[in-house]
Amino acid sequence: MKVFAHRGASGNHPENTEIAISSALNIGVDGIELDLQSCLDDYVIIHDSWLDRTTSGQGKVNATAFADIQRVDAGNGQKVPGLQDVINWVGNKTLLNLELKHTFSLDKLVSTLEHNVDQGRLSREKLIVSSFDHHQLQWLKQHLPWVKIGALTSSIPLGYAEFAQRLNAYSLHLDKNFVNHEFIADAKARGLEVYAYTVDKDEDILAMQALGLDGVFTNFPCNTKQVLAQHGD
Ligand code: G3P
Ligand code: MG
Repeated sequence: MKVFAHRGASGNHPENTEIAISSALNIGVDGIELDLQSCLDDYVIIHDSWLDRTTSGQGKVNATAFADIQRVDAGNGQKVPGLQDVINWVGNKTLLNLELKHTFSLDKLVSTLEHNVDQGRLSREKLIVSSFDHHQLQWLKQHLPWVKIGALTSSIPLGYAEFAQRLNAYSLHLDKNFVNHEFIADAKARGLEVYAYTVDKDEDILAMQALGLDGVFTNFPCNTKQVLAQHGD
Protein backbone atom coordinates (compact mmCIF):
# COMPACT_ATOMS: atom_id res chain seq x y z
CA MET A 1 0.00 0.00 0.00
CA LYS A 2 1.43 3.37 -1.03
CA VAL A 3 2.12 5.96 1.65
CA PHE A 4 1.47 9.59 0.69
CA ALA A 5 2.67 12.31 3.04
CA HIS A 6 -0.40 14.50 3.53
CA ARG A 7 0.59 18.18 3.18
CA GLY A 8 4.12 16.76 3.51
CA ALA A 9 5.08 15.15 6.80
CA SER A 10 2.68 17.60 8.41
CA GLY A 11 2.21 15.78 11.70
CA ASN A 12 5.73 16.76 12.68
CA HIS A 13 6.33 19.90 10.63
CA PRO A 14 4.36 22.93 9.45
CA GLU A 15 2.01 21.73 6.72
CA ASN A 16 2.75 22.35 3.04
CA THR A 17 6.27 23.66 3.70
CA GLU A 18 9.75 22.81 2.49
CA ILE A 19 10.75 21.08 5.72
CA ALA A 20 7.58 18.93 5.65
CA ILE A 21 8.39 17.98 2.07
CA SER A 22 12.09 17.25 2.65
CA SER A 23 11.21 15.21 5.74
CA ALA A 24 8.78 13.13 3.67
CA LEU A 25 11.44 12.58 1.01
CA ASN A 26 13.92 11.48 3.68
CA ILE A 27 11.39 8.99 5.07
CA GLY A 28 11.13 7.48 1.60
CA VAL A 29 7.42 7.98 1.01
CA ASP A 30 5.74 6.77 -2.15
CA GLY A 31 4.17 10.16 -2.72
CA ILE A 32 3.57 13.65 -1.35
CA GLU A 33 0.20 15.40 -1.36
CA LEU A 34 0.23 19.21 -1.40
CA ASP A 35 -2.54 21.79 -1.68
CA LEU A 36 -2.26 24.11 -4.66
CA GLN A 37 -3.98 27.46 -4.77
CA SER A 38 -4.01 30.61 -6.86
CA CYS A 39 -2.74 33.79 -5.29
CA LEU A 40 -3.11 37.16 -7.00
CA ASP A 41 -0.42 36.57 -9.61
CA ASP A 42 0.91 33.02 -9.26
CA TYR A 43 0.35 29.64 -7.58
CA VAL A 44 1.16 28.83 -3.97
CA ILE A 45 1.10 25.75 -1.77
CA ILE A 46 -1.38 26.37 1.03
CA HIS A 47 -4.54 24.64 2.22
CA ASP A 48 -6.90 27.40 3.33
CA SER A 49 -8.26 30.22 1.18
CA TRP A 50 -7.14 32.61 3.95
CA LEU A 51 -3.56 33.07 5.17
CA ASP A 52 -4.59 33.36 8.81
CA ARG A 53 -4.59 29.78 10.18
CA THR A 54 -1.27 28.49 8.90
CA THR A 55 0.82 31.66 8.55
CA SER A 56 1.71 34.91 10.30
CA GLY A 57 -0.14 36.77 7.54
CA GLN A 58 -3.76 37.75 7.13
CA GLY A 59 -6.18 38.03 4.26
CA LYS A 60 -7.37 36.06 1.28
CA VAL A 61 -4.74 34.14 -0.62
CA ASN A 62 -6.26 34.98 -4.00
CA ALA A 63 -6.12 38.70 -3.19
CA THR A 64 -2.47 38.67 -2.12
CA ALA A 65 0.56 38.93 -4.40
CA PHE A 66 3.16 36.17 -4.44
CA ALA A 67 5.88 38.59 -3.27
CA ASP A 68 3.78 39.52 -0.20
CA ILE A 69 3.01 35.86 0.58
CA GLN A 70 6.74 35.19 0.51
CA ARG A 71 7.12 37.57 3.45
CA VAL A 72 4.83 35.67 5.84
CA ASP A 73 5.94 32.88 8.18
CA ALA A 74 4.31 29.50 7.53
CA GLY A 75 5.65 28.13 10.83
CA ASN A 76 9.14 27.71 12.28
CA GLY A 77 10.48 30.27 9.83
CA GLN A 78 9.24 28.38 6.79
CA LYS A 79 7.93 30.19 3.72
CA VAL A 80 4.79 29.40 1.76
CA PRO A 81 6.21 27.56 -1.27
CA GLY A 82 5.33 28.40 -4.82
CA LEU A 83 4.36 25.78 -7.38
CA GLN A 84 7.75 26.04 -9.05
CA ASP A 85 9.48 25.48 -5.71
CA VAL A 86 7.75 22.16 -5.11
CA ILE A 87 8.34 21.00 -8.66
CA ASN A 88 12.03 21.78 -8.14
CA TRP A 89 12.12 19.97 -4.78
CA VAL A 90 10.00 16.91 -5.58
CA GLY A 91 10.27 16.83 -9.37
CA ASN A 92 10.47 13.19 -10.29
CA LYS A 93 11.81 11.85 -6.96
CA THR A 94 8.45 10.49 -5.85
CA LEU A 95 4.75 10.76 -6.75
CA LEU A 96 3.61 14.38 -6.52
CA ASN A 97 -0.10 14.84 -5.86
CA LEU A 98 -1.20 18.43 -6.34
CA GLU A 99 -4.67 19.01 -4.95
CA LEU A 100 -6.41 21.96 -6.60
CA LYS A 101 -7.91 24.25 -3.97
CA HIS A 102 -9.47 27.49 -5.14
CA THR A 103 -7.17 27.27 -8.13
CA PHE A 104 -7.88 29.48 -11.11
CA SER A 105 -6.08 30.21 -14.38
CA LEU A 106 -5.96 26.53 -15.25
CA ASP A 107 -4.57 27.43 -18.67
CA LYS A 108 -1.49 28.86 -16.95
CA LEU A 109 -1.24 25.69 -14.85
CA VAL A 110 -1.28 23.60 -18.03
CA SER A 111 1.54 25.62 -19.59
CA THR A 112 3.58 25.54 -16.36
CA LEU A 113 3.29 21.76 -16.06
CA GLU A 114 4.07 21.24 -19.76
CA HIS A 115 7.12 23.49 -19.51
CA ASN A 116 8.49 21.62 -16.50
CA VAL A 117 7.97 18.26 -18.18
CA ASP A 118 9.75 19.56 -21.30
CA GLN A 119 12.63 20.77 -19.13
CA GLY A 120 12.91 17.36 -17.45
CA ARG A 121 12.09 18.73 -14.01
CA LEU A 122 8.78 16.91 -13.70
CA SER A 123 7.82 13.36 -14.60
CA ARG A 124 4.47 12.82 -16.32
CA GLU A 125 4.18 9.42 -14.68
CA LYS A 126 4.73 10.80 -11.20
CA LEU A 127 2.23 13.65 -11.22
CA ILE A 128 -1.37 13.27 -10.01
CA VAL A 129 -3.66 16.31 -9.98
CA SER A 130 -6.68 15.85 -7.72
CA SER A 131 -9.63 17.97 -6.71
CA PHE A 132 -13.07 17.93 -5.15
CA ASP A 133 -13.98 20.10 -8.14
CA HIS A 134 -14.65 17.53 -10.85
CA HIS A 135 -15.50 20.23 -13.38
CA GLN A 136 -11.94 21.50 -13.11
CA LEU A 137 -10.56 17.97 -13.42
CA GLN A 138 -12.61 17.41 -16.56
CA TRP A 139 -11.29 20.66 -18.08
CA LEU A 140 -7.73 19.79 -17.12
CA LYS A 141 -7.92 16.30 -18.61
CA GLN A 142 -9.29 17.73 -21.86
CA HIS A 143 -6.45 20.24 -22.10
CA LEU A 144 -3.63 18.08 -20.73
CA PRO A 145 -4.55 14.53 -21.77
CA TRP A 146 -1.46 12.88 -20.29
CA VAL A 147 -2.14 14.12 -16.77
CA LYS A 148 -3.33 11.62 -14.17
CA ILE A 149 -6.37 13.00 -12.40
CA GLY A 150 -7.56 11.97 -8.98
CA ALA A 151 -11.24 12.43 -8.17
CA LEU A 152 -11.69 13.52 -4.57
CA THR A 153 -14.87 13.01 -2.61
CA SER A 154 -15.87 12.83 1.03
CA SER A 155 -19.01 10.73 0.98
CA ILE A 156 -19.23 8.27 -1.89
CA PRO A 157 -22.23 8.84 -4.20
CA LEU A 158 -23.86 5.77 -5.71
CA GLY A 159 -22.30 4.93 -9.08
CA TYR A 160 -19.22 6.96 -8.25
CA ALA A 161 -16.69 4.46 -9.66
CA GLU A 162 -18.54 4.43 -12.97
CA PHE A 163 -18.61 8.22 -12.95
CA ALA A 164 -14.86 8.38 -12.24
CA GLN A 165 -14.17 6.01 -15.10
CA ARG A 166 -16.17 8.26 -17.44
CA LEU A 167 -14.17 11.22 -16.12
CA ASN A 168 -11.08 9.29 -17.23
CA ALA A 169 -9.69 9.47 -13.72
CA TYR A 170 -6.58 7.58 -12.69
CA SER A 171 -7.37 7.40 -9.01
CA LEU A 172 -10.10 7.89 -6.43
CA HIS A 173 -9.24 9.77 -3.25
CA LEU A 174 -11.78 8.95 -0.57
CA ASP A 175 -12.54 9.85 3.00
CA LYS A 176 -11.49 6.81 5.03
CA ASN A 177 -14.81 6.84 6.87
CA PHE A 178 -16.80 6.03 3.72
CA VAL A 179 -14.80 3.27 2.04
CA ASN A 180 -16.38 -0.15 1.79
CA HIS A 181 -15.59 -3.52 0.18
CA GLU A 182 -18.19 -3.32 -2.59
CA PHE A 183 -17.11 0.10 -3.75
CA ILE A 184 -13.41 -0.82 -3.75
CA ALA A 185 -14.12 -3.97 -5.77
CA ASP A 186 -16.14 -1.93 -8.29
CA ALA A 187 -13.40 0.72 -8.59
CA LYS A 188 -10.63 -1.84 -8.98
CA ALA A 189 -12.58 -3.75 -11.62
CA ARG A 190 -12.66 -0.49 -13.56
CA GLY A 191 -8.86 -0.13 -13.28
CA LEU A 192 -8.94 2.76 -10.82
CA GLU A 193 -6.43 3.26 -8.03
CA VAL A 194 -8.12 3.76 -4.67
CA TYR A 195 -6.61 5.93 -1.94
CA ALA A 196 -8.00 7.13 1.40
CA TYR A 197 -7.38 10.22 3.53
CA THR A 198 -6.44 11.06 6.28
CA VAL A 199 -5.15 7.88 7.86
CA ASP A 200 -3.02 8.40 10.98
CA LYS A 201 -4.10 5.90 13.64
CA ASP A 202 -2.54 2.43 13.60
CA GLU A 203 -5.95 0.73 13.62
CA ASP A 204 -7.08 2.83 10.63
CA ILE A 205 -3.88 2.07 8.70
CA LEU A 206 -4.46 -1.65 9.20
CA ALA A 207 -8.15 -1.35 8.34
CA MET A 208 -7.27 0.33 5.03
CA GLN A 209 -4.68 -2.35 4.33
CA ALA A 210 -7.26 -5.07 5.03
CA LEU A 211 -9.72 -3.40 2.65
CA GLY A 212 -7.11 -3.65 -0.11
CA LEU A 213 -6.61 0.05 -0.72
CA ASP A 214 -3.80 1.09 -3.04
CA GLY A 215 -2.64 3.96 -0.86
CA VAL A 216 -3.27 6.24 2.10
CA PHE A 217 -2.66 9.90 2.82
CA THR A 218 -1.16 10.33 6.26
CA ASN A 219 0.18 13.18 8.38
CA PHE A 220 2.65 10.73 9.99
CA PRO A 221 4.29 8.86 7.10
CA CYS A 222 7.16 7.53 9.22
CA ASN A 223 4.81 5.77 11.64
CA THR A 224 2.54 4.61 8.82
CA LYS A 225 5.46 2.99 7.02
CA GLN A 226 6.57 1.30 10.24
CA VAL A 227 3.08 -0.06 10.97
CA LEU A 228 2.80 -1.42 7.42
CA ALA A 229 6.30 -2.94 7.56
CA GLN A 230 5.32 -4.79 10.75
CA HIS A 231 2.28 -6.20 8.98
CA GLY A 232 3.78 -7.50 5.80
CA ASP A 233 3.53 -4.50 3.48
O1 G3P B 1 -6.10 15.11 -0.89
C1 G3P B 1 -6.61 14.50 0.26
C2 G3P B 1 -7.01 15.49 1.30
O2 G3P B 1 -5.95 16.40 1.46
C3 G3P B 1 -8.27 16.24 0.97
O3 G3P B 1 -8.70 17.08 2.02
O4 G3P B 1 -8.88 19.19 3.29
O5 G3P B 1 -6.94 17.69 3.69
O6 G3P B 1 -7.10 18.98 1.58
P1 G3P B 1 -7.86 18.27 2.67
MG1 MG C 1 -5.31 18.27 0.53
